[in-house]
Amino acid sequence: MKKQNYQWPEYTVGVCYYPEHWDESLWASDLDRMLAAGIRVVRIAEFAWNLTEPEEGVFCFDFFDRFLNLCAKKGMKVIFGTPTATPPAWLTKKYPEVLNADQNGLPYEHGARRHYNYNAPIYREKVKTIVTALAEHYGRHPAICGWQIDNEMNCETCEFYSEADQAAFRVFLRESYGSLDALNAAWGTRFWNQTYTDWAQIRLPGHVLNEGWNPHQRLDYLRFVSESARSFCQLQANILRRYKKPGDFITTNALFGHIDNPKMNEESLDIFGYDTYPNFAFGLNRSEPLEKTGYGSGGDLNDRLSGKQLSEVRGICPHFSILEQQSGAGGWVSRMEGPHPRPGQIRLWAMQSVAHGADFVSFFRWRSCTFGTEMYWHGILDYDNRDNRRLREVTEFASDLKKIAPLCGSAYVAPLAIVKDYDNACDAEIDVWHGRLSFPDESAIYQQAQLSHVPCDYLHLADDSELEDLCRYPVLIYAHPAIMTEARAALLKAYVEQGGTLILGCRTGYKQENGQAVMLPPPGMLRELTGSTVRESGFQHPAEPTVTVDWNGERFEASVFQDQLEAEGGATVLARYDSSWFAGMPALIEHPLGSGRCLHWGSTFSRPVLSRLFTYLGLTGRFNDLLDVPETVEIAERQKDGLRFLMLLNYLPEAQTVVLHRQMHELLEDKLVSDKLTMPPFGVLVLEV
Ligand code: GAL
Repeated sequence: MKKQNYQWPEYTVGVCYYPEHWDESLWASDLDRMLAAGIRVVRIAEFAWNLTEPEEGVFCFDFFDRFLNLCAKKGMKVIFGTPTATPPAWLTKKYPEVLNADQNGLPYEHGARRHYNYNAPIYREKVKTIVTALAEHYGRHPAICGWQIDNEMNCETCEFYSEADQAAFRVFLRESYGSLDALNAAWGTRFWNQTYTDWAQIRLPGHVLNEGWNPHQRLDYLRFVSESARSFCQLQANILRRYKKPGDFITTNALFGHIDNPKMNEESLDIFGYDTYPNFAFGLNRSEPLEKTGYGSGGDLNDRLSGKQLSEVRGICPHFSILEQQSGAGGWVSRMEGPHPRPGQIRLWAMQSVAHGADFVSFFRWRSCTFGTEMYWHGILDYDNRDNRRLREVTEFASDLKKIAPLCGSAYVAPLAIVKDYDNACDAEIDVWHGRLSFPDESAIYQQAQLSHVPCDYLHLADDSELEDLCRYPVLIYAHPAIMTEARAALLKAYVEQGGTLILGCRTGYKQENGQAVMLPPPGMLRELTGSTVRESGFQHPAEPTVTVDWNGERFEASVFQDQLEAEGGATVLARYDSSWFAGMPALIEHPLGSGRCLHWGSTFSRPVLSRLFTYLGLTGRFNDLLDVPETVEIAERQKDGLRFLMLLNYLPEAQTVVLHRQMHELLEDKLVSDKLTMPPFGVLVLEV
């Protein structure tokens, strides 16, 4: 399921700007300097509710009228944000029921942001009013080219326990199940005497003793949170759609937890937006500072791993927008610290976005704010407002984009896709027997694909996924789909029969849609497809040596969890466990079916296992006839109108050597190149092959 209603006609550079943070006398020179740097779009207003509705029902449009008119005069385009991520103090004071609450039901105070819930009827009313007022007033303004809904829905928190959510949860369940009997059956409420006899007895799975939630209830809760966020987004999209100019787009900056993002895109957006901070902050999404780990520590690929999220976004919308691209050190006064991008890294990271499918890159933010929680979230310019090396690099990037203009709108070409779906993502979060496998393995697959130069997409499975969505990939990895449905099993089987190769890992297919186990030998509904069953399975004993597998004389670790497999029908055993008490049992089974095959691996996907699988399936060596590139350099292949381009990205602070096997056109320098090329630290090459 991929949707794209709007596509940028050419590569475009933007910047996030907050006119309300600066003296108005700075606006004109700021816009002039942006234009001189090659910036053509500003994103504004996403937190500025007070400026347009300072008191309930009192609307003032002059502030943004002045700013938008100035933009129109100067030829700057604008993405206008709806301000619903930060309800004003008059609103939360008068209607405290709009506040979100923590797991204990304790409401959040006003301040910070995203302190509201999606379900309070009065908040939905107030949101309708402000969004209608803004869309009605600014919708036809010539400077506007698009609308951003809210800001990063479900960032900061993706848990909701307000009283409004309690009530809405019951409505959601009534609509889903129709009767209490059906709900009791789906939730297995006979266990621990949870049977409900009145809808009013049902609460969100919040503060329970020892985190002993009912897992089926929590699965529905995560579906409910997604539905709440999506309908909140759709409510705004419907209003904007009525008032926006034809050709203007509706977007949001997304990919946060507990939202079915592909579905939200499908329902409400014209183009998907993402915020990318490849070096977010110390201690949050990097185990150690970049200086300490660098590449090659065997660790997490550092900033290169951002391509994983970008690929996930590409799976939702092939030509997306980056609404916030890191341009300086990240940091909050209260909880984060981070390093500045090194010279070359701003351009490299922005090129990483482009390589993965962004046709629009908007840097966060024009200038660091001199006050507030994010005064250390550095923008392009520092407080002193002087031109600096970061502005020079943004300018260079904008001029680079002109040189690689033919790639705009080109397709990212990948022979492999990681398969994901919302229910299994939720189940992995709820169920430690699933999550402990899924989360690290998803990263390992992406990392090994990067290191083996196997371009890798994401395929988001949904109820409306069609066979042709799957058939675009010769190989799919659906690592640990614990939850399986008949419809999905049939789709996967059809994919294999028409010639696809499907790789499945341990813990596949042992649950049904409500999260209850099926009373079938695993992989349950997939048995006919895998040509295998699981005799017994369990976690690696921590006190025992890691279980190993023999695959044609090569030894691999089968860490964390092992399914002891048995082959059936025409399936072949490719590898067997060679240690532990179940030594000799099959660990990897290949089952030919129709014109394709299914590989069932009984354990987790470590990088060595993946590397071997990629070689076995002929995925590696894709670029060998063209060039030799060290694994430390990323290759992204893009194709358009019969032309084939390779973008090479060096994430290291050292030069890297690339050897070409034939002459090629390098677009950034606009010259013919051959033989040995040296990529400078953080360098980028764009080759037409
Ligand atoms: C994003 C957010 C921005 C800003 C930035 C830096 O998550 O959308 O408003 O907060 O991070 O923290």
